Amino acid sequence: MATSAKTASAKTGPAKVGPIYVLNGPNLNLLGKREPHIYGTEGLAGIEKRVKERAKALGHKIEFRQTNSEGELITWIQEAGAKGAGLIINPAAYSHTSIGLHDAIAAIDVPVVEVHISNIHKREAFRHHSYVSSVALGVICGLGPIGYELALEALAEALKKA
Ligand code: DQA
Repeated sequence: MATSAKTASAKTGPAKVGPIYVLNGPNLNLLGKREPHIYGTEGLAGIEKRVKERAKALGHKIEFRQTNSEGELITWIQEAGAKGAGLIINPAAYSHTSIGLHDAIAAIDVPVVEVHISNIHKREAFRHHSYVSSVALGVICGLGPIGYELALEALAEALKKA
């Protein structure tokens, strides 16, 4: 179905300098307390720490943020396109609803990896479609918080090749 996904090189041309943005959507500020049987007990601060440690080893800087606002997420995606080298995004519930997020990601020229902590395909039918996936370089879902680190590894490789 997806036809607009772009490879790292097609999407980015030569790799840009700047941090890798890690953006988190609504309710992810509640990680650790929110439905721990689905999302686990690790909070977003713990994920930020892991990602920053892994990024240091890979020679990248991280801009790590969370918002509950769709508009703010779109503004930050645009910022990642203008100032960042790449983007890791867990769009949370907006994955399943937001054409605005799809369009913002389609409009930027850096590689994007979509992350979900839970396996959205194993859950309710309304979570099975993501508006972001067709414009992402790749998607990691269902592996828990380590998915963010795996996304970073993949993005670092893509940036090396670009
Ligand atoms: C999520 C999955 C989404 O369906 C949900 O709305 C979230 C979190 C995840 O990381 O598993 O808020 O993106």
